[in-house]
Amino acid sequence: MNDDIDVLLTETRSFPPPAEFARTALLNDPNIYLEAANDTEAFWMEQARTLEWIRPFTKGLEWDAPHVKWFSDGTLNASANCLDRHVRGAKRNAAAIIWEGEPGDRRTITYWELYRQVNQFANVLKGLGVERGDRVAIYLPLIPECAIAMLACARIGAAHSVVFGGFSPESLRDRINDSECKVLVTADGGYRRGQVVPLKRNADKALEETPSIRHVVVVQRRQGSTIQEAHTEMKEGRDHWYHRLMHNASAQCEPEAMNAEDVLYILYTSGTTGKPKGIVHTTGGYMTGVAYTTKYVFDLKDDDVFWCTADVGWVTGHSYLVYGPLANGATCLMYEGAPDWPEKDRFWDLCERHGVTILYTAPTAIRAFMKWGDQHPAKHDLSRLRLLGSVGEPINPEAWMWYQQHIGGNRCPIVDTWWQTETGAIVISPLPGITPTKPGSATMPLPGFSAALLDIRAKEIDVGGGLLALTKPWPSMLRTIWGDDARYVETYFTKWPGRPDLYFPGDGAKRDDDGFYWILGRVDDVLNVAGHRIGTMEVESALVEHPAVAEAAVVGKAHDIKGQAIAAFVTLREGFTQSSSLRDELREFVAQKIGAIAKPDDILFSADLPKTRSGKIMRRLLRDIAEGRALGDTTTLADPNVVAGLKDQYEAQES
Ligand code: WT7
Repeated sequence: MNDDIDVLLTETRSFPPPAEFARTALLNDPNIYLEAANDTEAFWMEQARTLEWIRPFTKGLEWDAPHVKWFSDGTLNASANCLDRHVRGAKRNAAAIIWEGEPGDRRTITYWELYRQVNQFANVLKGLGVERGDRVAIYLPLIPECAIAMLACARIGAAHSVVFGGFSPESLRDRINDSECKVLVTADGGYRRGQVVPLKRNADKALEETPSIRHVVVVQRRQGSTIQEAHTEMKEGRDHWYHRLMHNASAQCEPEAMNAEDVLYILYTSGTTGKPKGIVHTTGGYMTGVAYTTKYVFDLKDDDVFWCTADVGWVTGHSYLVYGPLANGATCLMYEGAPDWPEKDRFWDLCERHGVTILYTAPTAIRAFMKWGDQHPAKHDLSRLRLLGSVGEPINPEAWMWYQQHIGGNRCPIVDTWWQTETGAIVISPLPGITPTKPGSATMPLPGFSAALLDIRAKEIDVGGGLLALTKPWPSMLRTIWGDDARYVETYFTKWPGRPDLYFPGDGAKRDDDGFYWILGRVDDVLNVAGHRIGTMEVESALVEHPAVAEAAVVGKAHDIKGQAIAAFVTLREGFTQSSSLRDELREFVAQKIGAIAKPDDILFSADLPKTRSGKIMRRLLRDIAEGRALGDTTTLADPNVVAGLKDQYEAQES
């Protein structure tokens, strides 16, 4: 079987790091790539030594493929690395978190204040019977208490399992039960697009079937008064108000000396199908990976205001809103709500008012901003921005160019960062002061990481399309799947039989003449038209290049002759209307850009696309629609109405 992927789109634009940026960047000598490649284990040991260890490690890597340990004879505490070492020094009074709620309420928390509150909450958890090795579930809106609760768990050696506040009671219940959490931390409610999200009410529903939970701690989202709309009964003996417990808690709690390989947290990721996987991250390796990548990918300096727009419910929030930035003593912006609330310029208003210098967001957001129009960012002074980042999906070259021009003022480098919940930290990304960038390419593995493009027989593809593999273990990699190590081995290390040393992330990619990587999307989504394997990314990017198109998703649908034909779902930019002539124009446009082979048979215009709550397009459901099947599992969708509406529309068009 041939698993190679055809390469259709060629992008020739390339941007060297701006001279001024490179001059002052933390890293500007390309030799770092060579040094790290020469002795990768020594490189990582050096990075790990920038953390504060309670007992210094002597061991680096222990690799019994596919199982791994790093720094296994060392002990440390993640919360002490994020807090204690800063409050002893110059960062003591610096802002750790600048928070803004969706309704506009604001809080700024210094390192000293965060340190005290984390100590207090650590004592609260202890008082509720949480011990080292236990699990604590966290189900909160994006408020500072997310970071406080996570770090408090880390302080006493309990593993946290954060469940995104947008998830349903059933999802929360299943995640709590899978890892048998003892305590749940939640809130009366949160805000999203002006609506109250009734978290406690959802939690109460989940708690009907969670025998392991002994106590529930409830944060009042609005300090001093409960959100009336969200209010539910507090169950005597089980439920406790956060502020009451904090009031009586001591602000001194000695950090536990955790072994480097002790679990720091579990985070559930749904993958494409089936039961969510509890991804397990450990303490020493994870902290090494996130501290290193935050510092150098984002070129983090003392006066930066770093805004990672992700929710802590995703790994991006764990690594680049909490652990990575705080380990570096950074100042972070945290924003609770939607980007279009109350107006479509909310992000740019936030950037201007808080003086954001580094912005890290997702292609789905960037495409929404493009769709809404250039006038929204144009209203604001974004001149303090100096670096932009992207994560979560391949970024289409046109969206990349728009981001560079309209947000970055043609001044800021863009770091397109490829990684996964499982990798813990960014793996493939430019170093902004060194690596030239190309719109749509995550460029190359960071120093310390090793990737290759392989065919199905594990033969390296120098230039062309194939399967992405990570070829050497790295400190922040997942250690297992909670309670199911066999699934860990099967999912990530059996793609190439007899090669348990090769990690398969599930993505297809291409490599160009410079050895740069271009992620083509999940291999499960790859199209197969008349024997040509085509990545979804390339056809979608061709569509997005058309001035009328804001966003596109393509899928293969069964076809008698070609095997598969391409069906495209297209969202138009504001100011454009759908028509059959536009449909024909778009089909021709794709044929022109990348060849007749990729010309979509069907195009359906849609105001929205079905997305997961983290913003990834769910092509699996679009395939169900295109092939006229009943819809598969829709429980992880952000808005189930979108897909139901699309199905009706598609069927009406067919008949
Ligand atoms: C999958 C991982 C990484 C944190 C957020 C998502 C896709 C992620 C990129 C990128 C192309 C990307 C991949 C990957 N992905 N970043 N820069 N370019 N694709 O974490 O939910 O675990 O998803 O997201 O397909 O495998 P996740």
